[in-house]
Amino acid sequence: MFLDALRNQNQLRPPVWLMRQAGRYLPEYRKLREKYSLRDLFFTPELAAEVTLMPIVRFGFDAAILFSDITVTAESLGLSLDFSEGPKLADWVTPSNLHQLILMPEKLAPMIETLHLLKKDLQVPLIGFCGAPFTVATYFVGGLEKAISWMRTSPESFLLFLEKIADATILYIQMQEKAEVNAIQIFDSWANHLTPEEFLIYSLPFVQRFVNAVSCPSIFFMRNVSPYIDKIPCAVSIDESFCLKKARKMTQHPLQGNLSADLLFEPLDVVKSKTLSVLEDMKEDPGFIFNLGHGIKPNTPLDAVYTLVDTIRCI
Ligand code: CP3
Repeated sequence: MFLDALRNQNQLRPPVWLMRQAGRYLPEYRKLREKYSLRDLFFTPELAAEVTLMPIVRFGFDAAILFSDITVTAESLGLSLDFSEGPKLADWVTPSNLHQLILMPEKLAPMIETLHLLKKDLQVPLIGFCGAPFTVATYFVGGLEKAISWMRTSPESFLLFLEKIADATILYIQMQEKAEVNAIQIFDSWANHLTPEEFLIYSLPFVQRFVNAVSCPSIFFMRNVSPYIDKIPCAVSIDESFCLKKARKMTQHPLQGNLSADLLFEPLDVVKSKTLSVLEDMKEDPGFIFNLGHGIKPNTPLDAVYTLVDTIRCI
């Protein structure tokens, strides 16, 4: 169903997976995290594969997404990553040390090994992913404000920086495709902070390059994508700030979304009725993938997720 929906050819119920489906709302994940650091989980193939499978085993989602992070490409640019309080680099990238970034794609081997392990016995499609250069840059320079300030004061060197991230990322998604992922999700989570003119320079051309770099389907995510829906050259993930029905009038590409992650904290009858209302908006649409508007939150009740999945399965 997931792959058919990505071809606009799904005749059955909509497939469902959730952004950040492998994570802290799962007790089995929290238990593993007591023993291992986040870095250990991302870079140890057996552990990353185990975490990837947790939400599939528990809820039976229709697609698995590699358990990793958009910032892992730092390592393939010679930067060292620390995840103790969210992704941080030992040294932030600045215009003056930019020339020191060197491509080392072999550093991404652990994530590719995870994909190989998963492909052996996974019963559902496997989604690979990457960050788009602007969003990844915000984590490599020490925050959104610093990235925007660099972009506006020294646009040429900032673009060179994004090019370096893009080179590493294209190699990474091509490695993922070789390991037989079925789709790539591209996260430009912070691109909503760009002006429309900046979006056309610092986001869209890279998205186009990434989409062209692989032959499997791609899905694009950013917050508040609505002004750009008609320009996105692949499937679009829509957050709760926009209506799927309106989005459908603006693009022929598959659409994914868009139940608010906050609604999962509501009583179960509300979860059910809001899920039904998203399903109703996209009824019989052959290119629709059910998802949240953005990532599932850490303390989400498991019952809400069971209710969501059951509601979709029972239509
Ligand atoms: O969806 C999945 O289940 C796959 C795993 C996944 C992670 N990160 C694991 C993770 C995915 C798809 C991501 C993408 C990611 N990472 C994005 C884009 C999506 C989005 O939400 O906009 C971004 C911006 C990041 C950067 C990032 N990683 C931040 C800001 C943080 C710290 C904040 C937080 O949520 O904890 C992370 C850490 C991270 N990445 C965790 C997980 C499961 C936290 C886990 C933990 O602390 O145990």
